[in-house]
Amino acid sequence: MNAPETPSLFDLNAWSARQLDAIEQALSQWVANAQNGFVPAGLGEAMRYAVLDGGKRLRPLLVMAACEAVGGNAEAALRAACAVELIHAYSLVHDDMPCMDNDVLRRGKPTVHVKFGEAQALLAGDALQALAFELLTPANGSISAPVQAALCRLLAKAAGYQGMAGGQAIDLASVGLPLNSAQLHEMHRLKTGALLQASVLMGAACGAASPAVQSALQGYGAAVGLAFQVVDDILDVTADAATLGKTAGKDAAQDKPTFVSLMGLQPSTDYAQQLLAQALASLQASGLGHTGALQALADRLVNRHH
Ligand code: IPE
Ligand code: IPE
Ligand code: MG
Ligand code: MG
Ligand code: MG
Repeated sequence: MNAPETPSLFDLNAWSARQLDAIEQALSQWVANAQNGFVPAGLGEAMRYAVLDGGKRLRPLLVMAACEAVGGNAEAALRAACAVELIHAYSLVHDDMPCMDNDVLRRGKPTVHVKFGEAQALLAGDALQALAFELLTPANGSISAPVQAALCRLLAKAAGYQGMAGGQAIDLASVGLPLNSAQLHEMHRLKTGALLQASVLMGAACGAASPAVQSALQGYGAAVGLAFQVVDDILDVTADAATLGKTAGKDAAQDKPTFVSLMGLQPSTDYAQQLLAQALASLQASGLGHTGALQALADRLVNRHH
């Protein structure tokens, strides 16, 4: 077993600046046809608008960090990182539409349906989802067939009824209902946790992770994923729109059940810290050596201000 890196010695800013360079360049390139007129009727412009120039890119960073921890194929990880971000961006486009959260501000800009119309927003989301799976299945041999299949399986499961889409259905069905703790955990696990956990597992799938390592990373991903939505619920109450780049105070306004409405603000904050400790403990239990980025990212996810 390798000694884990000390998180305080890990320079997350330098590491993520390097990763983000590659991620932004790859995203821009892969949503590029949109710019070159190969995409019909303005759809490409809406896709680029949804993906580029904004977003913290936490899911892609988790993919790259997990791949690094297992010493995996970095080219496969970069594709996986972009694929996850495309699914996330699509989920935001649809989440903001009038039939869902009816939001006008996202990543500091007017939402996609405000800018391009509802039909185009719907189609941009659809097209981004399809593009994600195209990225995971290159014909050039850079990702082996079994790894392609594993990546597609993880992402499909996390995006569909067993993950994001299922969680969003619960979210919409729960407006005005006082969910109990188990129901709220389930909603958050699905709508947000699943894709964050999948980011970690997809990074690990780019290398050879033993079942024990996979199971430890599953625990890390579950804790970080749940903590992420707990913090999203907290920031909706405590932060302003200028900081968030999206409307603040909308969960209460729309009568959505959240961790803050269930437990109150301070207990939710304490709970997020407990989940962070759980995530770090899982990482420690993995026995992996190069977990500096995963440790520091968990800390950033939970202790973020936007
Ligand atoms: C916001 O996700 C939506 C949720 C799943 C809670 P992020 O906070 O990661 O949004 P971006 O990508 O940085 O805009
Ligand atoms: C969204 O949750 C989760 C998604 C799957 C997009 P929220 O509705 O709380 O996300 P924000 O607050 O609008 O970003
Ligand atoms: Mg929502
Ligand atoms: Mg929303
Ligand atoms: Mg929210």
